[in-house]
Amino acid sequence: MAKLIEVSVISLVLLCVAVAEGVQLGGACTVSTNCTTVATNSECTSKTCRCVAGYVAKSDKAKCLVMFNETCTNTAECLPNATCTSNHCMCNMNFQPSDDGMECNVATALTTSFILLIAAMLVSRFFSALGLENVI
Ligand SMILES: *[C@@H]1O[C@H](CO)[C@@H](O)[C@H](O)[C@H]1NC(C)=O
Ligand SMILES: *[C@@H]1O[C@H](CO)[C@@H](O)[C@H](O)[C@H]1NC(C)=O
Ligand SMILES: *[C@@H]1O[C@H](CO)[C@@H](O)[C@H](O)[C@H]1NC(C)=O
Repeated sequence: MAKLIEVSVISLVLLCVAVAEGVQLGGACTVSTNCTTVATNSECTSKTCRCVAGYVAKSDKAKCLVMFNETCTNTAECLPNATCTSNHCMCNMNFQPSDDGMECNVATALTTSFILLIAAMLVSRFFSALGLENVI
């Protein structure tokens, strides 16, 4: 019985130490282990827990997500609306990466109409090329 209590007390102390060491992303830290116990691929830089290069903090700050076109092993590591394809996080269909690669955003209507415009131009060029050939 005494042994059991002793083990319990030790476990509780260890648990408290583990909790005390954990610092959320964005929180004040002294060493990187403060950050990595909470989020893998994080580090303590300028006394703040941040994600390492190529990673970005999830909105709830619970983990570091793989940025667009960075290496991954599974989709759960990627940004929202991205999928791990050929070991790289790629934005899903109809989503496009932000310039900084930290988000996959809905492809804007502007982009869609731009693509349609290019397609229309190519088609019209193709037909005018055919037209010219017929004349010559
Ligand atoms: C960071 O880790 C160190 C070493 O384990 C610990 O002494 C310190 O209390 C931790 N800091 C925070 C804010 O948890
Ligand atoms: C992903 O990165 C590689 C180089 O690391 C580059 O060649 C490729 O074009 C990028 N893909 C996209 C979709 O941006
Ligand atoms: C994009 O990601 C958000 C956040 O995870 C999710 O709520 C939404 O359903 C996703 N959209 C699509 C089309 O998958």
